[in-house]
Amino acid sequence: MAAHSSPPSTIALDGPAASGKSTIGLRLAHALGYTFFDTGVMYRAVAWLALQRGLNLSDEAAVTKLAEETDLDIRSASKEDGRTSDVLANGQDITWEIRRPEVDANVSVVSAYAGVRRALSAHQRRIGLRGRIVMVGRDIGTIILPEADLKIYLDASAEERARRRYNEIIARNEKAEYNEILSKVRARDQIDSTRTVAPLKPANDAVILDSDKLSADEVFERVMELCK
Ligand code: CDP
Repeated sequence: MAAHSSPPSTIALDGPAASGKSTIGLRLAHALGYTFFDTGVMYRAVAWLALQRGLNLSDEAAVTKLAEETDLDIRSASKEDGRTSDVLANGQDITWEIRRPEVDANVSVVSAYAGVRRALSAHQRRIGLRGRIVMVGRDIGTIILPEADLKIYLDASAEERARRRYNEIIARNEKAEYNEILSKVRARDQIDSTRTVAPLKPANDAVILDSDKLSADEVFERVMELCK
């Protein structure tokens, strides 16, 4: 990572499922007056559309074609209903649809396809290169923006991450089963970190923050410290 002028203009925030990347990334973007871009929503959108259309998710060619042909648009939040951005696919607002459990369960299969990643990553890089941005994902520091001014890898144990996801779902008044969430978090970690294309791993020059014993406020303070 190059020595950065302060604050850094391009910030890559990577880490496993439910490690707190979105919460921290959004706060950081607000504090710095930067754009917040959660790249995970793009993979989620493709997974949701594929399920919606009844595609066989093992059909890599069909899912790739879908990713290539879909017009995805990520905009700043137009409603105050807890969303961090608006996600539109071919003009349709699918911001909440992509958070459904069936998307959680299938998104990693879709995101492991090289063609899907190719279709989405050019768009991500273009946006990232504009600077003054906090970009959240799995491969931002390693593949999408290897020249990022600051790279942070936010980690936490699977148990802690499952607990957080569980609390999020309960807060939305939906039903959740802790053990089921834990096994799904583990399954997604497994696919994300063992795939051949852009596997989840910290960049060599990333600062690794383990949030198991840190509150969201403490993580945020450390991240702000790194931006000075
Ligand atoms: O919010 P959570 O951490 O659970 O997931 P997400 O960031 O919305 O990402 C959903 C899925 O998309 C991940 O499990 C990865 O399979 C994939 N993803 C990816 O491969 N590369 C990215 N840059 C972002 C997400």
